[in-house]
Amino acid sequence: MLRFPKEFQWGAATASYQVEGAVSEDGRGESIWDRFSRTPGKVQNGDTGDTACDHYHRFPEDVKLMADIGIKAYRFSIAWPRIFPDGSGRANPEGLDFYSRLLDELQAHGIQPVPTLYHWDLPQVLEDKGGWPHRDTAYYFRDYAAHVFEAFRDRVSMWITHNEPWCASMLGYGFGVHAPGKQDFPAAMAAAHHLLLSHGLAVQAFRGLESTGQIGITLNLTPQYPASDDADDRAAARRADGFSNRWFLDPVFRGAYPQDMLGVLAEVQAAPPIEDDDLRVISAPLDFLGVNYYSRAIVGHGDQPPLHMEMKPPVYPVTKMDWEVYPDGLYRLLMRLHEDYGPIPLYVTENGACYEDTMVSGRVHDQARTQYLQSHFAAALRAIEQGVPLQGYYVWSLLDNFEWAHGYERRFGIVHVDFADQKRTLKDSALWYKKFLGQQLG
Ligand code: FCB
Repeated sequence: MLRFPKEFQWGAATASYQVEGAVSEDGRGESIWDRFSRTPGKVQNGDTGDTACDHYHRFPEDVKLMADIGIKAYRFSIAWPRIFPDGSGRANPEGLDFYSRLLDELQAHGIQPVPTLYHWDLPQVLEDKGGWPHRDTAYYFRDYAAHVFEAFRDRVSMWITHNEPWCASMLGYGFGVHAPGKQDFPAAMAAAHHLLLSHGLAVQAFRGLESTGQIGITLNLTPQYPASDDADDRAAARRADGFSNRWFLDPVFRGAYPQDMLGVLAEVQAAPPIEDDDLRVISAPLDFLGVNYYSRAIVGHGDQPPLHMEMKPPVYPVTKMDWEVYPDGLYRLLMRLHEDYGPIPLYVTENGACYEDTMVSGRVHDQARTQYLQSHFAAALRAIEQGVPLQGYYVWSLLDNFEWAHGYERRFGIVHVDFADQKRTLKDSALWYKKFLGQQLG
């Protein structure tokens, strides 16, 4: 049996656009994901988050499910367009009220709230003004964050500024596969810089309020393994690491972008628009780092500039996302983060798996998902035993939900959602998690 430290924080995670629905209710403004998902051809099957899991109305039931499983912390995100439908200006009391009711419900069930301020649903009006590639967006984010801190600081003691700025910038503005669907590499690098700047500005605002809570950021970190021992492959893996991991870790924890990557970007005129003092703001001390881990990548040398890298096929079995199941990658990642960026406390803010689920006589026997979770928990525990200050773990996801460009096709939940009638059913993985959490108390 895996035995974690007593005070370890076990949780589950969701994100506003993926679960809430109710996109035009109570004064919510349009987000870039509303616009993107309604654009033909962008999301599988033309799915949108219009209804999603209807969490907006059904959160009391969902909180009860969490309590039943034994989950102690809920990582959710706040939809900026619910709070500021116009991006800035006047706050919408009904939007604040929704999260206030959610906080009350969590408190009544002894579940710690862990809100993320930005999980990709930028108000469309701000995108129309230039979005994340435009510097002003960082200051709008600071004002939004400050407002939310003020409103909820008496009830929230752990905050996350951003979820996965790599995805928000690269998938949204570089590769065009996420909202707002732009394909402009220099714009993506500018977006990444402004996301980081906005993170630092929010941290400053938070500290200014003399809040007693903790604040951190969540990064998607993918260990990059060279395809061979060949010097070219190793160099390519190093660049891939620079692009996906160090590009965010170094400015946040060291106050500098990685020098090798600045060189690579300068070659293609994609260096970020850094202004005086930005890196000092971005590197404001944090209380923890959130790590989202799903898989590793295997890379070799490739021809295409600027990164000259090529993704190689996985070695081990994959999930339905085609992501290789590689728990040792999590162990090594946690060790490396501790060695290179420590002693910051770490949380796994997302980890989980997508599989083809079938409902048989009211049950979902998702053995593979359970296996995935169990093996990753074991990897995390190994890191703790090596002295890594890992303090919590949030399973992605509590519910099957709107999996971005894949729509409802891809299920990550430990709780099955029937999108026709919104019925929730605990999958075997949730029952396993419940048993596991019960044992941790014993
Ligand atoms: C992460 C996202 C999360 C979810 C998982 C599968 O990149 O943060 O919203 O989509 O992947």
